[in-house]
Amino acid sequence: MSNHHQVMRVLGGGNRDLRLSGHVGFDSFPDQLVTKCVNKGFDFNILCIGETGCGKSTLIDSLFKSSFNDTPVVHRLPEVKLEQNTYNLQESNVNLRLTVVSTAGFGDQINKENSAKAVVTYLDQQFEQYLTEELKIRRDLVHFHDTRIHVCLYFIAPTGHSIKSLDLVCMKELDKKVNIIPVIAKADTIARSELPQFKARITEELRANGVQIYQFPTDDETVADLNSKMNDQVPFAVVGSTDEIVVGGHKVRARQYPWGTVEVENEAHCDFVKLREMLLRTNMEDLREKTHSKHYELYRQSRLQQMGFADKTADNRPVSLQETYEIKRQQHLRDMQTKEERMRQMFVQKVKEKEAELKTAEQRLHDEFEKLRTKNQEEKRLQDDKKRQLEEEINLFNKKKAAVQAQRAQSERDAMSKRRK
Ligand code: GTP
Ligand code: MG
Repeated sequence: MSNHHQVMRVLGGGNRDLRLSGHVGFDSFPDQLVTKCVNKGFDFNILCIGETGCGKSTLIDSLFKSSFNDTPVVHRLPEVKLEQNTYNLQESNVNLRLTVVSTAGFGDQINKENSAKAVVTYLDQQFEQYLTEELKIRRDLVHFHDTRIHVCLYFIAPTGHSIKSLDLVCMKELDKKVNIIPVIAKADTIARSELPQFKARITEELRANGVQIYQFPTDDETVADLNSKMNDQVPFAVVGSTDEIVVGGHKVRARQYPWGTVEVENEAHCDFVKLREMLLRTNMEDLREKTHSKHYELYRQSRLQQMGFADKTADNRPVSLQETYEIKRQQHLRDMQTKEERMRQMFVQKVKEKEAELKTAEQRLHDEFEKLRTKNQEEKRLQDDKKRQLEEEINLFNKKKAAVQAQRAQSERDAMSKRRK
């Protein structure tokens, strides 16, 4: 009750603007933030999607002026895979933990239906890991390695024609989960005169198919002009290279051809600098922020709803976490009871079935035994009859034999008496 009054009083006080009569020191707050962030370092995670050999690794090398030594991927993978590598980079006193994720085997399968699936699964897994950490009782988001993808560089093949339907389908599946920046890969292979038309066709196809690509933000005045100009230049036509040449006394990355040289960082040659400017210098924080507040938020909402949490009941009454938990618990208990009851019934049923089965088997055995017994008795009776018959025959035979013997003795005796006479 007393708490309630306190709240009421504070609310009643309202908000008043006051002027300080001297320097207090909280104007150093932004500096404190900067120091804290710098000390902690940053995570930045890039996903590169593009066909095998379209120049993903080379572009990342060029963007960070490093050599990440990626091994090329074979063209015969049975399905799309994702390769993730993390690097610790430092510029001035700022530490960046960079994670580069790259598709392997993208567009190489004959059936391309599942091309986006591996990517969607990967993006969701990273969101899920973050959500799990957030929902822990003892969470440690400060030391947690946040691998949620902040930007997806989507490499469009430099056909000069138009964007492939595989790319449209894939981008459409991803645009609610990640900030997509489309780029035209190996732009040095398209004639300069064809580039504006190619770009226009891609933009039109993306628009017609309702693909939401990342828009550089125009709400901050300091970069609004630049960003809105750059929004019109997307997709950036990029060139990457690991080779360096010397131009005006400086080493620069370039691609050399018999007919000339394409410098990666020359704005007259390609949009590489624009991409780097937008990605790393101007909008890195916006990309990180949008990932958290837009894409992750969407994932989090749908996952929590799936788990049965809601802010309001069906009749629009606010519902507390405690209530939701209690409702869920009750529902869970009921579910468990029904399940238990169903299992018990099933068990009883099974036992009955088994019992009946055993009984029939026993009956069968019994019948079989009876049959055998009668058969046996019958056989014994037959044997006995036969034995009796044989015995009678033997008796008869013996009698006959005795009679014959008596007869023979009589005749011998008769013969003897005859001879004596
Ligand atoms: P996987 O990881 O194997 O799928 O390939 P990837 O997309 O990482 O391509 P990678 O950077 O390994 O480049 C493949 C080949 O394309 C190499 O021979 C590069 O020199 C070449 N290449 C890369 N970028 C460009 C480019 O901007 N223009 C041209 N013309 N060739 C490029
Ligand atoms: Mg590669």
